[in-house]
Amino acid sequence: MKIQVINGPNLNLLGRRETDIYGALTLGEIEAKLAELAKDLQCQVEFFQSNHEGELVDCIHSCRDSVDGILLNPAAFTHYSYALRDAITAVELPVVEVHMSNIHQRESFRHESVTAPVCCGQVTGLGAGSYYLGLRGLVEIIRERKQKD
Ligand code: DQA
Repeated sequence: MKIQVINGPNLNLLGRRETDIYGALTLGEIEAKLAELAKDLQCQVEFFQSNHEGELVDCIHSCRDSVDGILLNPAAFTHYSYALRDAITAVELPVVEVHMSNIHQRESFRHESVTAPVCCGQVTGLGAGSYYLGLRGLVEIIRERKQKD
């Protein structure tokens, strides 16, 4: 089983950016932990980060015939990118959305996610734990779907 982990804008600055909100771990450290967890879960993980909406859309498209599911933190695009939402719908893959901060506790513009309605689920507010739980949940969803096929 293959999972693509995709991170949106500014998440390359994790560990240095607003550490009171996002914590001290860098994206590389979170990815290393996800790679370890993936071994336990017997799946493969690939990582991609971009600050550019079109590159994120292209990456989601490239997943269509190459991976079984996507773990996605769309970052600020969560709140307004219909292009990312349409890309998620188009690839017909299970996608789990994750956020390190609790988007519902923050500014009102962060309360809405335009991408969550086309994802299987959303994990928000658990820091780096949102990625780890999100990966576990996604793997479970994919396994359940494969059993049904
Ligand atoms: C975020 C929440 C978004 O509102 C914000 O724009 C981010 C990070 C999170 O992981 O908590 O960049 O997706």
